[in-house]
Amino acid sequence: MPTARVGCFVAERKRRVAGRPAKTGSQGPARASRTSRAADAIAERKQAHLDLCLREDVEALRKTTLLEEVDLLHDAVPDLSFDEVDCSTRWLGKRLRAPLVITGMTGGTGSAFEVNRDLASLAEEFGIAFGVGSQRAMQKRRDSGWTYEVRRFAPTTVLLANIGLAQARSMEIGQFAELVDALEADAICIHLNVAQELVQPEGDRDFRDGTATFRRLARGLRVPVVAKETGCGISRTVATRLRAAGVRHLDVSGAGGTSWVRIEALRGDRAARIGETFRDWGIPTAAGLLGVRDLGFEVVASGGVRDGLDVARAIALGASLAGVALPVYQAYRAGGVEGARSFLQDLVDGLRTAMLLTGSRTLADLRRVPVVLGPRLQGWAAVNGPRRTPRGRA
Ligand SMILES: Cc1cc2nc3c(=O)[nH]c(=O)nc-3n(C[C@H](O)[C@H](O)[C@H](O)COP(=O)(O)O)c2cc1C
Repeated sequence: MPTARVGCFVAERKRRVAGRPAKTGSQGPARASRTSRAADAIAERKQAHLDLCLREDVEALRKTTLLEEVDLLHDAVPDLSFDEVDCSTRWLGKRLRAPLVITGMTGGTGSAFEVNRDLASLAEEFGIAFGVGSQRAMQKRRDSGWTYEVRRFAPTTVLLANIGLAQARSMEIGQFAELVDALEADAICIHLNVAQELVQPEGDRDFRDGTATFRRLARGLRVPVVAKETGCGISRTVATRLRAAGVRHLDVSGAGGTSWVRIEALRGDRAARIGETFRDWGIPTAAGLLGVRDLGFEVVASGGVRDGLDVARAIALGASLAGVALPVYQAYRAGGVEGARSFLQDLVDGLRTAMLLTGSRTLADLRRVPVVLGPRLQGWAAVNGPRRTPRGRA
């Protein structure tokens, strides 16, 4: 779409948001204004998060993803040309040109729309998947729905809706359609962020009925449900429970990358004290992948994936796709669309380089490459991997 038309569209939508009161349905004026204040608080908090991601070091301090402990066996005679290396895949019924997803970050305000529009356009250009940030703001203020509507910029690729488990718990099945329809999404991510909520002064404290909510959604929604962590990882035990609840897609989003506990710690006094203690909390991304690889999920590996070799290592550990958030956002803010484009190009080139160096023409070949695991990762696998029994693995 030409820039001028996009500009008109944004201006028209902004007028609608500014000029028209939010739909209140049968709510009284007092309740409507409470809802509106809550929406403002969410928008302000989301903006503070984005600003901190640019100004501060918001990643884990000492913990790493442990992807650096995954060595792929080198092939000195690969019998392949670089042009033959094919990193395309299918996910959620669509073909992707690379096994990548820009995971959910934002929405709800005019500037968030611009981020969503530009990154979704890049996802379309690269033939990779794209997720919007939490659509909670849209629930509080329905006429902010347009800030998530990116299908026109990404007509063919996979798009993911997003809402927190805490909100999903109390939502009727019908309410999810609004979130999914806003972007004609191929699936919905239900994000998990217990650690962040506990550190956030205004965060949730009640996490009951999580598994039951997934069971209800897996049965009732017409699109697949992705159980998505946000930087603390998903253990084998939890994954097994989610599988029994009917979930078939995971984003393990492990520790070693963006730390939401750290981000909340940067926002307040009490949060600062407890947040610094738990900054590195969670299951490293590589350990999360090993824990779920034989459970029959389609797995996204995110959390600290920073280059193409990380992507290759994640795929070799059984992931279908790798996901990135913080580095794309930082590259976009530092260098605009061109900055984000060159970051994504580096990811794809790095992956294809690792594929050639391991003699892998396809991603299926890469999944068969022998890997050497370092001692810390083996330690994690002993606790969070398939249990060895005298007769094999359980
Ligand atoms: C600025 C920013 C905003 C985010 N907002 C959301 C969100 O609204 N919903 C969500 O599921 N995850 C959100 N995340 C988490 C990411 O999708 C991802 O799971 C996590 O940051 C780990 O990936 P990374 O290390 O590549 O950043 C956000 C991440 C960033 C950096």
